Amino acid sequence: MRQQSTRIGLIGYGQIGQVVHQMIDADADNGMEVVFVHDQMAAAVQNLSTDLCLADLSDFESRQPDLVVEMAHPDVTRQWGQTILEKTNYMFISVTALADRAVETTIEETTRRAGTRAFVPHGGVVGMDALLENRDVWESVDVVMKKPPHNVDCAAAGLDPDDIKEETVLYDGPTRGICPLFPRNVNTHAAIAYAGIGFDRTHSLLLVSPEWSEAIVEIHAQGPGLDLKVARSEGITGVTGASTPVSIYNTVQMIGATGPGIHIR
Ligand SMILES: NC(=O)c1ccc[n+]([C@@H]2O[C@H](COP(=O)([O-])OP(=O)(O)OC[C@H]3O[C@@H](n4cnc5c(N)ncnc54)[C@H](O)[C@@H]3O)[C@@H](O)[C@H]2O)c1
Repeated sequence: MRQQSTRIGLIGYGQIGQVVHQMIDADADNGMEVVFVHDQMAAAVQNLSTDLCLADLSDFESRQPDLVVEMAHPDVTRQWGQTILEKTNYMFISVTALADRAVETTIEETTRRAGTRAFVPHGGVVGMDALLENRDVWESVDVVMKKPPHNVDCAAAGLDPDDIKEETVLYDGPTRGICPLFPRNVNTHAAIAYAGIGFDRTHSLLLVSPEWSEAIVEIHAQGPGLDLKVARSEGITGVTGASTPVSIYNTVQMIGATGPGIHIR
């Protein structure tokens, strides 16, 4: 009883997009097929066949995707989320987009109207299943992120990483507020907030120091009779932790794979 393969469109062909594409193509049995790749920079996709490249995202329907995966920037969800969801399913990894209530509402309402589905991957969050499953139990959720300043895109916050000479607190407050300031860096915070107790009740701390070379995320969720502590330290390139690209592929295959085998959920 073989199901038909899932047609997948990719938006964003940087670190994560390229790995996800390679991993989909590497397993001929997974029942997934990449039907387009779109990136705002032509140079990013110059080595791909012209058939695969989609220069104008408004043509996405012509490729009949079953799932479109954003791996580019939260602006894509703001500009295209509704249009895509009117026609097909959509997974977006730039989760900070959801901190904007209007975006969240539009996505929710569009899926209901169109009968499509939107997906948020766990991405850089270890333990998102536990945060989600116990979201009615938590009284507090705290996220502490530590990064080298040059791995934080400080443009929206109007800061220059070169000016940071010592350990510095870049943000301390509700997760809702950190997302527009560091939209490319705090998807982990956004996913934790969305899975757990929301953007207003989740507390975010972002620390940077030129002495650090790794990215550290610590999560502490507390509720009656339940205490969850998770910490992960890993290498970081650009804005992305070393373990994220394969994590994103894993979620794509959880949603889209139709191949045989024993599958962990
Ligand atoms: N959910 C998570 O845990 C998680 C973790 C790490 C990164 N991210 C997010 O994933 C995204 C991709 O990360 P990356 O490391 O691959 O970044 P990257 O900079 O290596 O690649 C991003 C690519 O997207 C393209 N792009 C940017 N804006 C675009 C737009 N509006 N339309 C089309 N293409 C656009 C860029 O040209 C670039 O090629 C970022 O938004 C990042 O914040 C999410």
